[in-house]
Amino acid sequence: MTRTDGPNPVLYTRNGFAGRTATLLRSQYSADYTRVKGSYAPRIYNLNDLDEAAFNDRRAMPVSIMNDGTVSLEIAYRREAAPFATRNVLADEVHVVLAGSATLETEFGVLSVAKDDIVLIPRAISYRFVDIVGELREFLIVTENELNFAMSPGLGPLTRMDAAAPFPDPSTRTGEYETLIRHGDQLTSVFTDYDPIPTISVDGNRLLAKVNIHDIRSINMGSGLLVPPLIIDDATARTQIFDLSARTGDRPPIHYNADYDEVFVYLEGPGQFGGITQNSVMTHTPKGFPHRGPVENVPEGFRGLLIETRATLTPTAAGHEIGRLADVDEFAVHPSAAQSV
Ligand SMILES: [Fe+2]
Repeated sequence: MTRTDGPNPVLYTRNGFAGRTATLLRSQYSADYTRVKGSYAPRIYNLNDLDEAAFNDRRAMPVSIMNDGTVSLEIAYRREAAPFATRNVLADEVHVVLAGSATLETEFGVLSVAKDDIVLIPRAISYRFVDIVGELREFLIVTENELNFAMSPGLGPLTRMDAAAPFPDPSTRTGEYETLIRHGDQLTSVFTDYDPIPTISVDGNRLLAKVNIHDIRSINMGSGLLVPPLIIDDATARTQIFDLSARTGDRPPIHYNADYDEVFVYLEGPGQFGGITQNSVMTHTPKGFPHRGPVENVPEGFRGLLIETRATLTPTAAGHEIGRLADVDEFAVHPSAAQSV
């Protein structure tokens, strides 16, 4: 279909996938724009492009590329274990592994993590990544609101979930240990003369777990549209994380998401998602900005995540370094930005 084959249906939606909708029939192709003056604009980010120097220090913390004070999207590259345990006391953290592998040690047990794992670390649980193989690259979704897995293994889309396993050796290790408490954008170090991480056993809810995007079955919509599978939710639906991998069905119409910013992270091909062909490319479309998005029915397959948030995400200085104006019809660098860096 060419863009002059109008009229074009345009979907206006309230409350993301959950609210009222209306369809406008328009002769204009509203997913196109020629240029933007001002800061409220969709952008495309290559998450491989952060300055490595920011992570040279073993003490380096994840770098926020977008946030609004309540939700932060962050990147971490790490070759060596940090010399401390981290405990975020004001926010839950979702760690999406983009590359490399490691062992995640937490007060709730131990998890092996590798590419395309989605790990939920609830607040106030100390953790550290050790035994890092290659470079551990992570994309983090950090939210003030409590997050929970919205799927469990069974006859639905998810086939497997791994909870943290008991420590192989929980014996007490002594020596000086540091726990870095993250409280908002501030850090406080607490020192102990014992290792604060190992636990002998855990009972109750399996609060610390992971899923791998490849363990979510692709859904077949036939023709038409269906809400993508919800992986992680929060109690107030402020931030939601969906599986947006290749699936059959119609290309979405042009739409206005009136209440949610939309973030898409391309994890893996081989199929491309519109103009996105490289792993770890992210797009951000701010709420109320008309857009369409590429065909999802890609026979070669691709894997990706869709994050919807009521937060109004704004690029940080690090985000501006790697963000470029985005075309939101096919998700690519916008022609007006193609000549600039
Ligand atoms: Fe959208």
